[in-house]
This record gives sequence, C-alpha cells and structure tokens, in this order.
Amino acid sequence: MPSTPDRPTRMRLDREGGPVLVDGPVEVVTEDGTTHFSHRPTVALCTCRKSARYPWCDTSHRAHAPRKPDAPDRTEEDPR
Ligand code: FES
Repeated sequence: MPSTPDRPTRMRLDREGGPVLVDGPVEVVTEDGTTHFSHRPTVALCTCRKSARYPWCDTSHRAHAPRKPDAPDRTEEDPR
C-alpha cells in the first residue's frame, strides 16, 4: 500500500544500533540496485550492516551492542 497524505509511511527508531521499524508492505532498493520486497505488516530494516539477511534485521546487532554497566553477564542469562 503506497503512502498517502492521509496514511504516511510510519518508521520507528527504537534504539541506536538497532533496526528501523517500518510499516509494511515495503520495497527496499539496496546499493547494488537489487529490489527487496516484504509484505509483512511491520518490517525491521538493518542499520548495523551485520545482518546475514541484509537489508532485513536478523538481530545480529544484539551481539555487537555495547553492554550496559549494570547488565548481567550473558553467561548468567543463558547458561547453556
Ligand atoms: S539492525 Fe539488526 S542486524 Fe542490523
């Protein structure tokens, strides 16, 4: 659905280093000229360039995010 003045495209910036959430469906043209389509209601666009599924976020940014000083050790969160 194309955006209109009555229904502008909505984009949400959740946090630095994370994806941009865009109301779908979307069409994304990457630097090499490839066009990617998604018909999902909300699409997470990768801004960190670490995604194996670029331009879509695959949550790889989480492994590269700076840790908060009071955050528990990752091995304590998931002892597997
Ligand atoms: S923003 Fe999530 S993998 Fe890049």
